[in-house]
Amino acid sequence: MNTRSMRLALAGTAALALAMTPALAGAAPGNPGEPRFQEGDPGAGDPYFPLAGNGGIDVLHYDLDLTYQLPEPEPAPLEGQLDGVATIELRATQDLHRFNLDLRGLTATKVVVNGKSMRFDQVDNELRISPRPKLKTGDEATVEVTYGGATTRPTDIEGALYGWVTTRDGAMVVSEPDGSATWFPVSDHPTDKATYAYEITVPEGSVAVANGLLEGSETADGQTTWTWDAPDPMAAYLATATVGDFELDSYVAENGTPIIDAVDPALPDSASANLALTSDMLVFFEGSFGPYPFNSYGAIVDDDSVGYALETQTRSFFSRRAGESTVAHELAHQWMGNHVSPGRWADIWLNEGWASYASWMWSEEQGRASAQDSFEDVMSIPADDDFWDVVVADPGPLCLFCGAIYDRGAATLHALRVEIGDDAFFELAKTWVEQYGGGSATTADFSALAEEVSGQDLDAFFQMWLYDAEKPTDW
Ligand code: TRP
Ligand code: ZN
Repeated sequence: MNTRSMRLALAGTAALALAMTPALAGAAPGNPGEPRFQEGDPGAGDPYFPLAGNGGIDVLHYDLDLTYQLPEPEPAPLEGQLDGVATIELRATQDLHRFNLDLRGLTATKVVVNGKSMRFDQVDNELRISPRPKLKTGDEATVEVTYGGATTRPTDIEGALYGWVTTRDGAMVVSEPDGSATWFPVSDHPTDKATYAYEITVPEGSVAVANGLLEGSETADGQTTWTWDAPDPMAAYLATATVGDFELDSYVAENGTPIIDAVDPALPDSASANLALTSDMLVFFEGSFGPYPFNSYGAIVDDDSVGYALETQTRSFFSRRAGESTVAHELAHQWMGNHVSPGRWADIWLNEGWASYASWMWSEEQGRASAQDSFEDVMSIPADDDFWDVVVADPGPLCLFCGAIYDRGAATLHALRVEIGDDAFFELAKTWVEQYGGGSATTADFSALAEEVSGQDLDAFFQMWLYDAEKPTDW
């Protein structure tokens, strides 16, 4: 579901990046004598990841039917086998004779649109589909892609493991920012949210853990099929289908949210002990951000590691250990980042700043360091430290997860709280979630709402905190 246009992103660098891609070589719509049907853009128009997502389509739903064979322990490197049928419901947002989905490292063998086999090809990480009859603006179509291949251990633009990461006992599946294409054909940009359903078949004894609620599992002929339903609109990078040795623990939190935790039994109890705080944290964050936005929650704690945690929607992922501040951070992302997602990857501070700030708030609630203490820690970093060189609201694709995105992002929110007062600040937090929940929003949307809620002119404030590559002077 495209909830906001990418107009802003198309200015400047994006236009350049897209102009170089062959699919855009066609003429603009409406030119006399030019064909009315176009090729959808190969990307959603995000300057940081020009080919992530796809133009001309709005995906509504993914039904992922996956079969996974675990890797043989020898020889290295680890290589599993993934075979899938993705049934994708989408709507055309322009008249299309061709559109793309993102698919990386896997081979499509069959594409069916509305029940009929269609021509398609794969160029680099783009699966290009030519629907016949062509799609008109507003047409809905069911696109069934049969695909598969060997799974590896993909890495993101910075070299961090992500996507479908093959492990000895299965796979860790965490895809921020554009790793979902390593495991299903997808419109891989947070502006195109969709609902998800999964049927994941794995060897008997292995557990497949996805987003949302577990509908059931059935075993036959040494294979178990795990069925999950995730009906809350979700950005593709937040989808997971993690496979491994897991023990599932289900209970209902104090606020009524059903919780399903999946913990690798190879881990010591201490690795997952902090998950017991989830119920209290849900109640606490509901007080600041409004009602928990999804049908379920829970955690995956794997004994394998990608080196970080991820706020996979409704089922946060932890590498080896779930520390208390990280448990708070990933839970807070469910409102900040997941329900309200970044309009462009340049807006990542809205995810990480809020989640980090929430974890400062939790610490204060527990009688440890206050938010003001944590703020002062950040502000004690000397002005000549590289930390202050990052433009928080435009850090570049190689600095999405730089320390400043988290810590200066959180400090920005604390300084804003001091500037506009607690009442306006928490009204802003709740209104933000209410107004943009289910969709995505940008830094400009945030600063506009902050001004509206507070009635203050905050241009100079946001300039200093988010756009100046130097330490703020006045706070
Ligand atoms: N998961 C991290 C968080 O909660 C963000 C993240 C995604 C990350 N990919 C990464 C961090 C790679 C370091 C390296 O904030
Ligand atoms: Zn985070």
